[in-house]
Amino acid sequence: MIEAAVLTASDRSSKGEREDRSGILLEEKIKKSGGKVIEKVITPDDRSSIEKELVRLVDNIGVDLVITTGGTGLSPRDNTPDATLAVIDKEVPGMAEAMRYAGMAKTPHAMLSRAVCGVRKQTLIVNMPGSPGAVEENFEIISRSLSHAIEVLQGKTMDCYPHEQ
Ligand code: MTE
Repeated sequence: MIEAAVLTASDRSSKGEREDRSGILLEEKIKKSGGKVIEKVITPDDRSSIEKELVRLVDNIGVDLVITTGGTGLSPRDNTPDATLAVIDKEVPGMAEAMRYAGMAKTPHAMLSRAVCGVRKQTLIVNMPGSPGAVEENFEIISRSLSHAIEVLQGKTMDCYPHEQ
C-alpha cells in the first residue's frame, strides 16, 4: 500500500481564509485508489516553507509519495515547482509532460502549469495545479503508473515489461 502525503501550497488556505478543496479531493483520490494518507499539510506559498515541508515529509516521515497542489503557475507567489526542483535528486519529466498534455484537451491554460515531478531518496514527489478540476484530471493520468513508479524507485521490482513475457 502506498503511504502518501498531500501538501497544499496556498497563502489563503494556510491562513484559514479558503477551504482546501483540492487537498481534500487529493486525499479522497489517494484513499480510493488504495493508498493511505499519512499527512495532509497546508503551507503558505513561499519557497522556503514548501521546501522545508517536502524535506520533512521525505526525510523524517519517509512517505512513498508526496502530491502537492497549487503554486505551479506564473504569479509571483507561485513557487512550488522551484521548491520541488531544489529538493529532488532526479526529475521524472514524463509524468509532468503527460499531465500537461492531457490537460490541454480540457483547457489551453494547462500549458501554464510549471509542475515538476521527481524523486528525493525513495519518495516520488508530484506537483499538481491548485484547482480541484486540475487535480481530478491530473490524478486520473498519473494514477495508472503510480504503484509501478514507486516500486521501481524503491528497488521492489526490476520488471517493467511483464506483458512481454
Ligand atoms: N490543468 C488541468 N488539467 N486543468 C486545469 O484546469 N488549470 C491551469 C493549469 N493547469 C488547469 C491545468 C491554469 S488556469 C493555471 S494558471 C495553471 O495550471 C497553474 O495553476 P496553479 O497556479 O493553481 O498551480
